[in-house]
Amino acid sequence: MQLAQPLLVQDLPAPRLQPRQVRVRVHYSGLNFADILACQGLYQEKHAPPFTPGMEFSGTVMETGENVSAVKEGHRVIGVTGISAMAEECIVDEKALWQIPDSVSSEDAAVLPVAYGTAWMALHHRAHLQPRETVLVTAGAGATGLAVIDLAANVFQAKVIAAAGSDPKCQLVLANGASHAVNYSQNSLREQVKALTGGRGVDVAIEGVGGDIFKAALRSLAWEGRIVVMGFAGGKIPSIPANLLLLKNVSAMGVYWSRYQQEDFPLFSSAMSSLLQYCQEGKIHPHIGTVFKLEEVNEAFNHVLRRKSTGKIIISMK
Ligand SMILES: NC(=O)c1ccc[n+]([C@@H]2O[C@H](COP(=O)([O-])OP(=O)(O)OC[C@H]3O[C@@H](n4cnc5c(N)ncnc54)[C@H](OP(=O)(O)O)[C@@H]3O)[C@@H](O)[C@H]2O)c1
Repeated sequence: MQLAQPLLVQDLPAPRLQPRQVRVRVHYSGLNFADILACQGLYQEKHAPPFTPGMEFSGTVMETGENVSAVKEGHRVIGVTGISAMAEECIVDEKALWQIPDSVSSEDAAVLPVAYGTAWMALHHRAHLQPRETVLVTAGAGATGLAVIDLAANVFQAKVIAAAGSDPKCQLVLANGASHAVNYSQNSLREQVKALTGGRGVDVAIEGVGGDIFKAALRSLAWEGRIVVMGFAGGKIPSIPANLLLLKNVSAMGVYWSRYQQEDFPLFSSAMSSLLQYCQEGKIHPHIGTVFKLEEVNEAFNHVLRRKSTGKIIISMK
């Protein structure tokens, strides 16, 4: 595989397991915007080609290496790998696996790590979202956007204004828990949020598009509001005029979910366990947009890049 070229599906030899490693038969791998950036050589974490993309999966444990105690053969698990999850088999450290409760499907479980993990980290750990506060989320009909809406509305009891780039996407966010939807491809995001909040603005903004959309979201914050920089799907990294932070006592912060796996594993792991529990209790409902087969991986990437995707795109290995 070469950077920025179509991906190739190939048979490769299965490596031997090292101590504490687990071999998993992958059922579904989640497709993330970061996978696309990584394959273009544009992601913050660089991988030398050839590599297998894929940061997350659901699957069944096939084999355990020496000294593995967390999981056993036959357990259904979700895993977080960084790369290599878009494959029929994946080898991971036992610490990067969480068991899926019986009542949660492998499809739903595959959506949880990146999209819901990032949404949880942004809303709860970074922005300290409180009940009855108002959240604005951009790219609201996307994988992470819908996870933000689901968690904010159904777990943190907040009100959500979801912004998206088309009317069908706006209808989707309303059907999935947003109180209001705004189409930022047609009208000013800032003016629409202002009208919806009676001029007050929102308490929290979760922003994954960047460029002018980020600036509009920043200007849409209420007094002591918090904006979380999540990503730059639109391709432009915005700068922050510091006077805007001062004028309304607002805070700007970032979220980089996967770094918590190394920097604060107890937090990372407890978030994963909480998400699996919310799913088991029926509090959250992951939204899968399309399931692509492994052979269709290039179509899946283009589907997201062309802004056609809604919800989570997962790759099926079956
Ligand atoms: N920091 C972290 O740890 C972390 C973790 C996960 C995701 N992210 C970031 O969160 C954002 C959403 O990621 P996702 O995986 O959930 O993707 P996604 O929302 O499923 O897809 C990306 C969406 O971004 C919007 N978009 C705006 N301009 C775009 C452009 N020029 N090209 C493509 N899309 C554009 C589109 O929605 P509209 O048409 O509605 O605008 C598109 O559907 C990305 O910036 C991603 O890098 C960050």
